[in-house]
Amino acid sequence: MAPAVIVSTESGGKKFAAKLTWRVVMCGLIASTGGLMFGYDIGISGGVTGMDTFLKKFFPKVYIKKHLAKENNYCKYDNQLLQLFTSSLYLAALVMSFFAAKMCKRFGRKLTMQAASIFFLVGAIFTVISANLWMLIIGRILLGFGVGCGNQAVPLFISEIAPVKYRGALNICFQLMITIGILIANVVNYYTAPKVWGWRLSLGLAGIPALILIVGSFIISETPTSLIERGRFEEGKAILKAIRGVEDVDLEFDEIKEACERANRIKSPFKNLMKKSSRPQLVIGVLMQVFQQFTGINAIMFYAPVLFQTVGFKNDAALLSAVITGTVNVLSTLVSIALVDRAGRRSLLLEACVQMGISQAAIGAILQTKLSLTGSLEHGTAICVVLLICLFVSGFAWSWGPLGWLVASEIFPLKTRAAGFSFAVSSNMLFTAVIAQSFLSMMCKMRAGIFFFFLAWIVVMCLFVIFFLPETKQVPIDEMVDRVWKQHWYWKRYMVNDEEEDEVDGANALEKGVSA
Ligand code: BGC
Repeated sequence: MAPAVIVSTESGGKKFAAKLTWRVVMCGLIASTGGLMFGYDIGISGGVTGMDTFLKKFFPKVYIKKHLAKENNYCKYDNQLLQLFTSSLYLAALVMSFFAAKMCKRFGRKLTMQAASIFFLVGAIFTVISANLWMLIIGRILLGFGVGCGNQAVPLFISEIAPVKYRGALNICFQLMITIGILIANVVNYYTAPKVWGWRLSLGLAGIPALILIVGSFIISETPTSLIERGRFEEGKAILKAIRGVEDVDLEFDEIKEACERANRIKSPFKNLMKKSSRPQLVIGVLMQVFQQFTGINAIMFYAPVLFQTVGFKNDAALLSAVITGTVNVLSTLVSIALVDRAGRRSLLLEACVQMGISQAAIGAILQTKLSLTGSLEHGTAICVVLLICLFVSGFAWSWGPLGWLVASEIFPLKTRAAGFSFAVSSNMLFTAVIAQSFLSMMCKMRAGIFFFFLAWIVVMCLFVIFFLPETKQVPIDEMVDRVWKQHWYWKRYMVNDEEEDEVDGANALEKGVSA
């Protein structure tokens, strides 16, 4: 437990002593393997759906359309079942994230992560031995259960163990792992594509990150917040001392305990979430995810190889281009880790809107003017499209990608944190599924116009950041209400009755108890 840097965590004038210990770093890294599982899945499906052996076995109609019919460029892969192969995972994750919120609260973040890895391992085994489409879909659903649990527990876990000064950077490790997972999947697809059993290997390797998380989860400690929330005070304090690397943690312990006591008084966090005082966090938590998906990122992450084939690359060049965009994704996420706690959330998001908007507009214009229905782009123009996609991906990777998760994990007060975050996770899953299920069909109908559709969304999200997203950089999680929401020009109107609402709730509960 080497005290690399001494930090003081400011909390409303109080100072929490803390060091950036190896234990925090290690726990954060192990937990982020959950991101690796998620990312691997995002990256693997596009490559697999482009593989002929896979298509012949499970989607013969698409195979015929791709090779035999003189089908127009934009419609080769337009098939609802094929899209269901991708989207089923996210629909399952959507359902699971609600249960995962309860699991996180009742059994802790660590156990929820263990459940995630087991679902994931079994799901990977199912997909690898699939003999028919339905086995494949069942495997994807199990993987989705894993993603639902992991995406709920991991960001919460990291936010709760991180010293405030490094919360942003540590939290982005989750996103970094997602991008590494996507890149590994892209590389695996590149090598396995020519082999007859390539798709089985591609899908089966998803079991490796799951195994890492299973083993790793025995090494990491539960978060102090989760232990204290469940009444295990001594243990919570001991772990707090260990992860902060200092003996005197009384101030921070008391603050967490107080927040937990308030949270435990709330009998129904979901009902609480519907109250007026929770509206700002709920709206922002959900919208950040909706906007993240409507940047159009997953049109690229899921279907990049398919998209690159559409503009005229052969299968291996298309897979190689996906490796290139995957690499840009990882490297740009590192930029975010370096900048997020200094530049702040808002400036990264706004800069990225401009960058992503320019690339979407340019890609749309090129395809509109240069890609005929049955021909392909000239080589130079196709390379230009790849570069524009890299520009888009880098903007996303240092902003909406990591910050969608970070902002949602840090804006809710403890009493609604797990429930609120689960809403955010499920919104992400829902809209990921929507994009997965509809992108190929939308591309068939809208052709190049699909890029202008995403551009319009980028304009909306830019306005949203300007007017409605407060800066949360360097604000301790448990002080967001006072220091952020109560100060915001618009959201402050929802904050006035926060305490009263809780008390009225408590009084009503008491009254009901007495009259019963
Ligand atoms: C998003 C994913 C996306 C990935 C790309 C994540 O933050 O939730 O949907 O595929 O970033 O890196």
